[in-house]
Amino acid sequence: MRELVLKNVAKSYGGVHALKSVDLTATAGEIHGLIGENGAGKSTLIKILAGAQKPDTGTVVWDGEELSLSNPVEAVRKGIAAVFQELSLIPDLTVAQNIWFKRESLSIVGSVRAKKLYARTEELFASLNLPDIGPDRVVSTLTVGEKQLVEIAKAISTNPQILILDEATSALSHAQTEWLLTMCRRLASEGVLIFFISHRMREVRNIANRITVLRNGNSVGSFELGEKSDDEIVTMMLGRRIAQLFPEKSTTPPGSELLRAEALSVGHRLRSASLSVRAGEIVGIGGLQGQGQVTLLSALAGAISADGKILIEGEPKSFSNPRDAMRAGIGIAYVPEDRKTQGLLLAKSIRMNLTLASLSALSRYGFVNKAKEGEVVDRLIADNQIKVSSPEALVSSLSGGNQQKVVIAKALETHAKILLLFDLTRGVDVGTKSEIFKMMQSLASEGYGLVFYSTDLEELAHVCHRVLVMSGGEIVKELQGAELSDEAILAASVGADEVKTNV
Ligand SMILES: Nc1ncnc2c1ncn2[C@@H]1O[C@H](COP(=O)(O)OP(=O)(O)OP(=O)(O)O)[C@@H](O)[C@H]1O
Ligand SMILES: [Mg+2]
Repeated sequence: MRELVLKNVAKSYGGVHALKSVDLTATAGEIHGLIGENGAGKSTLIKILAGAQKPDTGTVVWDGEELSLSNPVEAVRKGIAAVFQELSLIPDLTVAQNIWFKRESLSIVGSVRAKKLYARTEELFASLNLPDIGPDRVVSTLTVGEKQLVEIAKAISTNPQILILDEATSALSHAQTEWLLTMCRRLASEGVLIFFISHRMREVRNIANRITVLRNGNSVGSFELGEKSDDEIVTMMLGRRIAQLFPEKSTTPPGSELLRAEALSVGHRLRSASLSVRAGEIVGIGGLQGQGQVTLLSALAGAISADGKILIEGEPKSFSNPRDAMRAGIGIAYVPEDRKTQGLLLAKSIRMNLTLASLSALSRYGFVNKAKEGEVVDRLIADNQIKVSSPEALVSSLSGGNQQKVVIAKALETHAKILLLFDLTRGVDVGTKSEIFKMMQSLASEGYGLVFYSTDLEELAHVCHRVLVMSGGEIVKELQGAELSDEAILAASVGADEVKTNV
């Protein structure tokens, strides 16, 4: 049986010890889950395996041969392919050009060649049992989920012996995730070694045969699935127990109405959606992916214009951009679909990213109060448990999950009364998730009104006071109290009338 053996692998970036010492053994045909807190070193480890980074010390041996890779192309040649956490497709090229990049002629002028490339791409998608995305589509026009599928198809098309998936499901819909899990099982049965990284414990449990936990740059243990309970795994990850992932829902009775939307419509994407959010309420927006939830939140946030009425504390308002919405008291903890291009200024410091949205509150006569800014930044970093070497470091040097925390902290610092929270916990580790949920409950009990869009049904059921389920651009069901459960949300999402409460 072919084995991959890592011994004492270490990697530093300047003074940051991303990996201190990692030992790990994995076998061909196995699905190996790699889990750990944000910043634990998972992505760094897979970058080393995939040739994107060189380790400072330690050895990587695959099938008896010590690997010393200088770049990902060389890794692919050795049979190692990776889907990295941050998407890496070239936006201006087509799907086909991206998939066969550096492997086939890219000339689109030679139309015979282009046709061949398209045909091969269609064959590839068919062989993977994927719907045809359209080989001639330019990547920038794809949804994030589609881009992710193209990345995965590209990696599999190299016929790897080792396939590495770093948070590959975080942008996928429920159905797309099911497809990926089935694909992983198929490849593993053909002898491929798969590394699977995800912050969704259920997914890892569902798919992995073996799990390795990383903590603070060290491997703290590997075990077979079933050897440990979720509780034990979380304790290994965090070095402490967490009492509950989902804290008690706040019980403060709802106060006055903060936000009201009447018959909001945007073409056929959003059809006459009405909702009301009172002080102290957390209102969830659920449904299968792509049923108008994003359009609804974007309309409320002023990011797109909609027919219908929006009232803030009873006053009709019309927003032509997010700034108007902000002035009217809508805060958006907006965690965009693609953090890399929409949520952060990657080339700027952590400090600057954190305070950009609230700079006017920190300034007088156009000058930023540096001392005050420093205090705010330190507090935000501490409150949100963002792991940074220094606030002056570039935000691009943070791990994926820590970048996410910066986006969240930045939005919450604007002190709006109504918060629109957009898929907040994507890529965030379980310890921080529970902190975020605690923070949401305390904001609710302080009289904020929260609208929470999540793709995670369990999260919606355990965090929200009420959940509005959307389908085909409409709000089709409202669930609350005893009838609110993840099964009920799913049933309403797929249009099942009778809600089965016991399985
Ligand atoms: N290019 C870089 N420069 C400086 N520090 C870096 C760089 N890349 C990663 N780090 C640091 O190395 C540590 C490990 O990061 P890594 O991305 O491997 O974590 P991770 O386990 O993948 O986390 P997440 O779950 O958030 O994706 C973090 O503290 C991160 O800030
Ligand atoms: Mg990572």
